[in-house]
Amino acid sequence: MKPSLTAIKGTKDILPPETKLWQKAEWLCREVFEAYGYQEIRTPIIEPTELFVKGTGETTDIVTKEMYTFVDKGGRSITLRPEYTPSVVRAIIEHRLYLQASPLRFYYFGPMFRHDRPQKGRYRQFHQVDIEVFGETDPAIDAEIIEMADYLLDRLGVKNKKILVNSVGCSNCRPNYVTLLRAKAEEIKERLCKDCQRRLELNPLRLFDCKEPGCQAITQSLPKIIDYLCRDCLTHFENVRQWLDFYGLSYQIEPRLVRGLDYYTRTTFEIISLELGAQNALLGGGRYDHLMKIYGGPDICGLGFALGLERVLSVAQIKPDKEKLIYFVYLGEKAKKKSLQLCRELRRQGFTTLLEYKDRSLKAQLSRANKLAATWTIILGEDELNQGICQLKEMTSGQQKTVPFDQVGTILRTLEKDEKNK
Ligand code: HAM
Repeated sequence: MKPSLTAIKGTKDILPPETKLWQKAEWLCREVFEAYGYQEIRTPIIEPTELFVKGTGETTDIVTKEMYTFVDKGGRSITLRPEYTPSVVRAIIEHRLYLQASPLRFYYFGPMFRHDRPQKGRYRQFHQVDIEVFGETDPAIDAEIIEMADYLLDRLGVKNKKILVNSVGCSNCRPNYVTLLRAKAEEIKERLCKDCQRRLELNPLRLFDCKEPGCQAITQSLPKIIDYLCRDCLTHFENVRQWLDFYGLSYQIEPRLVRGLDYYTRTTFEIISLELGAQNALLGGGRYDHLMKIYGGPDICGLGFALGLERVLSVAQIKPDKEKLIYFVYLGEKAKKKSLQLCRELRRQGFTTLLEYKDRSLKAQLSRANKLAATWTIILGEDELNQGICQLKEMTSGQQKTVPFDQVGTILRTLEKDEKNK
């Protein structure tokens, strides 16, 4: 029977055992980020709408079409964050984190919300892992975050990936390029989709964000920003490339990579999967030299990237760590009590133990332990109880031994160690 209440279109439940995979991925991300000197930051899911209008950009698809925006009871326009970068910049300004001695390197995990057409790899609620660095103008940092992103994907067991890089210039060179782009795009306007015709009016750079295959083909012939960079932007880009070479990373220059968000200056990049279809960007990011200033903060540049966990996990070859479950099999009320006492002690020693309250037969309980793939079962009946012992059964070999109550923890620890050393 189909339930009448189901998850909202474009959202999904993440259920066990898949949650184990998410935990493992998050743990690996944390380990990598902390090795590079990043610290965790957490900000609210809801933000003032204007944060994204001002930062992400008024003409972007995210702001014009995809935000979950509502008016709250106080009459304020609120948005479920569609991305994380504006929130972290706001938090830095609000708490004056730039005055602290510690490096401005942050990482973050959390859900994002975009009301786009759901498809494979594209959700309305999805999860990003994000990093941001502030105050570093050296092109070496642009390459360092790309190197870290690539290493992180390696650690997550992602194969068949490709690094794409581009430069979107700065406020010196971009206006001239945009004028030229507009003029050239006017010539093909009739062949573009309605959205692109609107983009052409408001911000021609956004033409490259169009997801329509027809428009993507038509706009191939338009001038590319990389050919119109000013001297400083070109030097920055060349330096980023030299640093990427220094790390021995192979990459492709993708002149159409303008990345759908308005705040980028100079470097933009993505790492795509060659195993996925249309939604193949595993992560994306770039440099944004003026966002802090746009929000009324100090003139501190920033850069970062966000990784989409759903997409990465669809290609990641990681396995959750195998958990060793100790399942308690008991017969009778007194044995139940003793089992619960032992369970409690073992849990405090870091073991995972389970006792179910079903008063089943010995056979039924053992078959349940098998079903749950328990590593060991501890069996306790009336006789054992009287002798102060229990039966410890290793489930794969079927070997069973008698263990006094006060030695259960020690023996389990030895068995665990032996297994690790195998
Ligand atoms: P973004 O390219 O919009 O960048 O998103 C980053 C990643 O989030 C994408 O590469 C993709 O893996 C994932 N993603 C985006 N939209 C969806 C969706 N609807 N469903 C599933 N996954 C999705 C940003 O958000 C920037 N804030 C990145 C950044 C950080 N730039 C500088 N710092």
